[in-house]
Formats: sequence, C-alpha cells, structure tokens
Amino acid sequence: MKKNFMFTFIFHLFPSPSVCTSILFLLSRTVLAAVDPHYVACEPKTCGDGQNISFPFYIQGQQKPFCGYPGFNLSCNNKGNPVLNLHNIDYIILQIFYSNHSLRVSNAAVSETINVNSFCINLPHPRNQRLSLPDDRFALVFNQTELLLLYDCSSSLPGKLLQYKAGKCEDNNKTRTVLALFKGDPNLGNASKECGSGQVATPVDMHGGDSGGLGIEEVIKRGFLLKWTATNCSVCEESGGKCGFVASTYQFKCFCPDRPHAVHCKRPGKVNGLIKKVALGNKIFNS
Ligand SMILES: *[C@@H]1O[C@H](CO)[C@@H](O)[C@H](O)[C@H]1NC(C)=O
Ligand SMILES: *[C@@H]1O[C@H](CO)[C@@H](O)[C@H](O)[C@H]1NC(C)=O
Ligand SMILES: *[C@@H]1O[C@H](CO)[C@@H](O)[C@H](O)[C@H]1NC(C)=O
Ligand SMILES: *[C@@H]1O[C@H](CO)[C@@H](O)[C@H](O)[C@H]1NC(C)=O
Ligand SMILES: *[C@@H]1O[C@H](CO)[C@@H](O)[C@H](O)[C@H]1NC(C)=O
Ligand SMILES: *[C@@H]1O[C@H](CO)[C@@H](O)[C@H](O)[C@H]1NC(C)=O
Ligand SMILES: *[C@@H]1O[C@H](CO)[C@@H](O)[C@H](O)[C@H]1NC(C)=O
Repeated sequence: MKKNFMFTFIFHLFPSPSVCTSILFLLSRTVLAAVDPHYVACEPKTCGDGQNISFPFYIQGQQKPFCGYPGFNLSCNNKGNPVLNLHNIDYIILQIFYSNHSLRVSNAAVSETINVNSFCINLPHPRNQRLSLPDDRFALVFNQTELLLLYDCSSSLPGKLLQYKAGKCEDNNKTRTVLALFKGDPNLGNASKECGSGQVATPVDMHGGDSGGLGIEEVIKRGFLLKWTATNCSVCEESGGKCGFVASTYQFKCFCPDRPHAVHCKRPGKVNGLIKKVALGNKIFNS
C-alpha cells in the first residue's frame, strides 16, 4: 500500500518524462561524483613504451602504492621502459604477461653494454652481478639456463676456449675479450683463470643451449622469464574493479566505483534476479 502510494505520489509530482530524465541525469551525476578515489587512482599507466602497468605492478611516483603489491614497485628509465629493481640490480621489463603471471626481463646494465652490430659486450657497473631473487615474490621460470660472462680475458686464449669468445671491445684502445659460458660447462674453471675479476651471471631463455640461431648478444638482450606470486586479479577485473593492496591491513582489495570490496565488485544481483525471473516466467508462459 505504502509503495503504491509513493509511486502514485511521485508520478503525480513529475508527470512529464522530461522531468524524469532530468532527475535521472542529476542522479547519475551524483553517482559519478562519488566514485571511490582508490578506483580512480588505479588507472593503468605507461612509462612511454606502450606497456600498460597495472596490478600487481605500480610505477613509483605515478601510481599509488595501494594500486600494486609491496615489492612490485617499478621505475621508468630514460628510454620509456619500465624497470624492476631486485637486490639493487635493474631489470628492464620487456613484456608483462598478466594472464599467466609472468614477465620477460633483461639485465639492464648488461643489455645496455651490448652492441649487437659490433659484437661488443662491455663490462657493466657494478662489475659483478648475479640475479638474486627476493623472498617469494619472483621465481625463475624453469628450463632456462644461466649464462656467465667473463670479462678482460687473455687475448691469447688456449684453443679449447676460443669457442666461447663472445665480445671484443675497443675500450680506450685496450682490447677487452669477453667469454660467455653456460653454467656447468666443464671448461668454466680454466676459462676463469684466463679472465679478470669482472663476472656477470644472468639467466637466458634457452633450452639446453639451443639459441635458435641467435648470437649470444641477442640471446642476452631477449632476456628471461620470471613468474610472480600475487593474488589473481581476474575475478575482480571481470567484475569491473581494479585490484589493489592496502598495506596497513596487509590485504588484497578490489577497488570498485562504489567502494573497496574484498574479492570483486558488487554484482548487479537484483537486476540479474529480475532478468532470471522474467526469463523463467517467459518459459513457463510459452510452454
Ligand atoms: C594499453 O591500454 C590501452 C587503453 O586501454 C589500449 O588501447 C592499449 O592497446 C593497451 N596496450 C597494450 C600494449 O596492451
Ligand atoms: C622499490 O622499493 C624498494 C624499497 O623501497 C627499493 O629498494 C627499490 O629500489 C624500488 N624499486 C624501484 C624499481 O624503484
Ligand atoms: C586467474 O583466475 C582465472 C579465473 O579464475 C584463471 O582462468 C586464470 O588461469 C588464473 N590465473 C593464474 C595465473 O592463476
Ligand atoms: C605466459 O604467456 C606468454 C604468452 O603466451 C608465454 O610466452 C610465456 O611463456 C608464458 N609464461 C609461462 C611461465 O608459461
Ligand atoms: C687510441 O689510439 C689512437 C691511435 O693510436 C690515438 O690517436 C688515440 O689518442 C688513442 N686513444 C686513447 C683514448 O688512448
Ligand atoms: C684445464 O687446463 C689444464 C691445464 O692446461 C688441462 O690439463 C685440463 O685438461 C683443462 N681442463 C679442461 C676441463 O679442459
Ligand atoms: C625443457 O628443455 C628440454 C631440453 O631442451 C626440452 O626437451 C623440454 O621440452 C623443455 N620443457 C619445457 C616445459 O619447455
């Protein structure tokens, strides 16, 4: 009775459809103005290379920390690439595969020293680098090989070691010979004796030493795959939300236009229910 009365009352108050439209417009404006700031803040951003950076990653200074997971902070280099820093080593992010939680990276210092055209690999800074993965956030995708680069090697190498020559750079008129060996190579011990103290170990995406016809410089530049561990974002995203993480409560959040939710945005349940009932009604009616 009450509802009917209200409806009649409203109907009598605003009989013209144009007035109703105005009210709807005003209502939608009010809703738009009240969109949750977390939801607004967590728009994907790019460093310039066109890759969309979103949860669990965030660009420090461009996106709020709550848009990503702790430890997934990225920076941008001057070429517009996103950069991940793990234990003080910079890795250029070549591609992020959000669908299977993996990304392709390459060691920034090493790939910057490589000139594919002149087969030159210079000694990076710092001169000793080895990928070390922090805690349980990132893991190497298995089946990748570790490549060791040895710098400042003797220019008169024993014949057995000539096959490992990877780079030869003219640096201040001093020729630098670089050797590249895979982890576990039986000649590694002897090769180390022929080279200086600079050493870089980096994983490469190469099954059983098969480079697929690429030179060692290209293989290094192509980088390697890491897998990450963080809450799966797809349920939240599919419900129209943006994933995030609130550090103070150490909890995953799904930021929705109305407010942060635990898992996904509020589904338009009533509307769905109505559609289902109507559909059911039709079926019964038709049969
Ligand atoms: C990044 O997002 C924009 C806007 O949604 C889209 O047009 C573009 O294709 C995306 N880029 C990539 C590399 O996915
Ligand atoms: C991310 O934050 C950590 C801790 O504050 C810092 O050590 C690291 O260098 C940052 N990473 C990047 C890419 O800026
Ligand atoms: C995330 O969840 C979706 C849907 O539940 C699933 O299809 C997808 O494989 C999951 N992704 C990962 C990396 O587990
Ligand atoms: C994730 O998907 C990409 C593109 O399909 C693929 O290249 C990559 O190997 C996959 N990552 C893993 C860990 O399987
Ligand atoms: C390198 O050698 C050339 C010719 O011998 C000489 O002119 C030049 O000054 C040298 N450069 C350096 C950095 O020593
Ligand atoms: C390393 O060098 C020593 C001395 O030249 C040689 O006897 C030895 O066979 C070499 N080791 C390998 C694995 O080639
Ligand atoms: C791992 O490498 C081996 C040796 O090259 C290859 O036979 C195998 O198919 C690879 N496995 C995967 C999952 O890529």
